[in-house]
Amino acid sequence: MDSTADRYGRFARVEARGSSTVYEQWTEGISTDPEVLELIDRLPEHKRQPNLVLAAARSCGTGVGPYPQFRSFLKERWDEIRSVILRRSTQTNEPGRCAVLLPLLARIARTEGHPLALIEVGASAGLCLYPDHYGYRYDGGAVINDPGLADLVLDCVTTGNPPLPQACPEIIHRAGVDLSPLDPADPGDVDWLDALIWPGMEDRRVRLRAAAEAAAGSPARIVQGDLKAEIAGLIDAAPAEAAVVVFHTAVLAYVPKADREVFGDTVSAYLGVPGRPVHWLSNEGPGVMPGPEATEAGTEPGLFLLRHNGRAVARTGPHGQSLDWL
Ligand SMILES: C[S@@+](CC[C@H](N)C(=O)[O-])C[C@H]1O[C@@H](n2cnc3c(N)ncnc32)[C@H](O)[C@@H]1O
Repeated sequence: MDSTADRYGRFARVEARGSSTVYEQWTEGISTDPEVLELIDRLPEHKRQPNLVLAAARSCGTGVGPYPQFRSFLKERWDEIRSVILRRSTQTNEPGRCAVLLPLLARIARTEGHPLALIEVGASAGLCLYPDHYGYRYDGGAVINDPGLADLVLDCVTTGNPPLPQACPEIIHRAGVDLSPLDPADPGDVDWLDALIWPGMEDRRVRLRAAAEAAAGSPARIVQGDLKAEIAGLIDAAPAEAAVVVFHTAVLAYVPKADREVFGDTVSAYLGVPGRPVHWLSNEGPGVMPGPEATEAGTEPGLFLLRHNGRAVARTGPHGQSLDWL
């Protein structure tokens, strides 16, 4: 297993570089700072992730400054930061991901001839359960499903000629499962989601606040539990007149491999059953999904692979900013 120093160094070079200068500098600094590494190494192994540690420090009020300033804050306030790390987890909820799901959602509703029942696995605060709350501007064109609020318009650049929709399909049911559901109406939960957004990504912060406010009035039912235990019950409870779409984005990387396989087998058993349309959309890192590798899709670092019923259909930007149809 990688040392914590390696992990933070790699995060700086591979994940933060080009996306957040502040996070690049902080994680580069941590990777060569024995005192801070020792603090992090005293955390349980699954709590040492850069995203979690940095978000916890930010939720405790660290300013966005140079590494020596951040380091002083971290050391002075470590007890408080540590308690946030132990209580919270990485639950980044990015409504922008709806932009890469929408073409498939619209196509499923059209081909099945039914409204949709959405079931989101690893839903966090459920902000991806409301594709109908958002407007969509593909390749700078006209806004589809205009919500009348610029903060809720999702921009997405496409290649490969995806089947772009004219409108958002009708959604008559939304439900989800999460180990620890967040409440879009709870200011503490929304502040935590805000802290998880990297410095320098202010447009995402504005969008998060607007999406949480829109969802707060009618939060979807998100059961607390493990995806593999809850998914069958959620599918069975969906209304009979709907086409069911089970989906997950940026979730399975957090799930042990054996559990991913149980989950995949459970969902697969519902696919193709006559009289009960169920579809499965997976938007995850390329190596994360069980099943045969989609070699034709390649494994470009930093991109997700979107699959429909196990078949790779697109490479997607991790925040829904791009859709490369295969
Ligand atoms: C990075 S967030 C992604 C949230 C949302 N899908 C999105 O794309 O905005 C991953 C979510 O998966 C949840 N999660 C992780 N493992 C899970 C499991 N075994 N069962 C249910 N939820 C899980 C986490 O609690 C977290 O809220």
